[in-house]
Amino acid sequence: MRILVIGSGGREHALVWKLSQSPEVTKLYCAPGNGGISELAELLDVGTENVDELADMAESKDVDLTIVGPESSLAKGVVDVFEKRGLRIFGPNKAAAKLESSKAFSKNLMKKYQIPTGQFAVFDDPQAARAYVRQLGAPIVVKADGLCGGKGTIVAHTLSEALGAVDLLMEDRIFKQAGERIVVEERLVGEETSIIVITDGVYALPMLPAQDHKRLHDGDKGPNTGGMGAYAPTPLVDPALASQVMQQIIMPTIRAMTSEGFSFKGVLYAGLMLTSDGPKVLEYNVRFGDPELQAILPLLKSDLVPILDDAVEGRLSGVQCEWEPGSCACVVVASGGYPGDFQIGKEIRGLDALKNRRDLLIFHAGTKKDKGRTLSWGGRVLNVVGRGPDLEGALKQAYEAIGTIHFDGMSYRKDIGHRVLKKPVVTS
Ligand SMILES: Nc1ncnc2c1ncn2[C@@H]1O[C@H](COP(=O)(O)OP(=O)(O)O)[C@@H](O)[C@H]1O
Ligand SMILES: [Mg+2]
Repeated sequence: MRILVIGSGGREHALVWKLSQSPEVTKLYCAPGNGGISELAELLDVGTENVDELADMAESKDVDLTIVGPESSLAKGVVDVFEKRGLRIFGPNKAAAKLESSKAFSKNLMKKYQIPTGQFAVFDDPQAARAYVRQLGAPIVVKADGLCGGKGTIVAHTLSEALGAVDLLMEDRIFKQAGERIVVEERLVGEETSIIVITDGVYALPMLPAQDHKRLHDGDKGPNTGGMGAYAPTPLVDPALASQVMQQIIMPTIRAMTSEGFSFKGVLYAGLMLTSDGPKVLEYNVRFGDPELQAILPLLKSDLVPILDDAVEGRLSGVQCEWEPGSCACVVVASGGYPGDFQIGKEIRGLDALKNRRDLLIFHAGTKKDKGRTLSWGGRVLNVVGRGPDLEGALKQAYEAIGTIHFDGMSYRKDIGHRVLKKPVVTS
């Protein structure tokens, strides 16, 4: 089978790495890929939102199955274009991708189908939004309706912060149309977890539960990022809670989409807050989590190719995943200054010595190969993934490896897993 992966991050490197082990794969392409992916797949120089050109490529390269990484490609309608041209692709179409690309749509769906989530209201008018914010009071959450690359949510601790957020989104329009409409929402309290399933629109195959670390600094301080680290499985979700989430959240969501006339195929990711009142949905994503997938896939024993193929064909009934025992932890190494301004083009040293190591994987995010050297080429640069019999062991592998990697300005969190660990793995 000839497979194309769309994307250029650590998530896509992890996907390509896993797919490359499948006996069913004869050729792997990635568009546009990165320095690490170039060692496992042929890179195609097409951007992730150039959906027509991506379809041209898939056709001319005789690709049997395309797998979409980023939400922006899905929101652009890459699946619609491929399907119209008779090309097989794993992911939801543009209409179904609204579950992620419109927070107003997803909140209204949850309300209609009684899927547990926080109280909320949707606004197109800043005046009305401000009145509602004043009525509810702080703490309160203000969210842009559309895709903002993970920057459109403001958890406001004071009334003036919340009113300021309404202004930034609706008056100053810092995210343009994405913030024309907003969701104002009750602040939920608890632990966060990511529940990711692969679905064919009827059946859902759960991945291991994971926990992401969104904030830049240790102790969950500083600005939100694309994710600074993740681990799986998280002990926050025991088998009883996992089955509760499937019955009360995941399956009702899939059925709700069907009832509303959408056929939802691909990845459904529920970002949950585990509140004292049970799990509640913060948001949905319609693609694999990055960096969660980097911590999940190394533990997947089953071949991923038939699973994705069955999802596309609507054959997931009875399919099961086999998992390795133990834990995986992914620590993101970023450029200094990220998520603000940062410099690229710094030579990364120490990677060769970490190749072919047991219990260690390096997935590249923003990197580029240049005359045999590896250069930093983005905000998030590397994902260092350790594996161990437990979370502590996995983190030890990852942090030991990071200690031997160097590039100018590199930064990373030293406390991945801190919400569930009894004592820190890195002490400094
Ligand atoms: N209702 C809420 N209560 C408390 N925290 C929230 C709430 N909604 C979002 N958050 C926090 O903000 C982060 C980002 O919000 P999310 O809805 O996931 O939007 P996005 O990922 O699109 O930025 C969440 O991971 C969570 O930490
Ligand atoms: Mg989120």
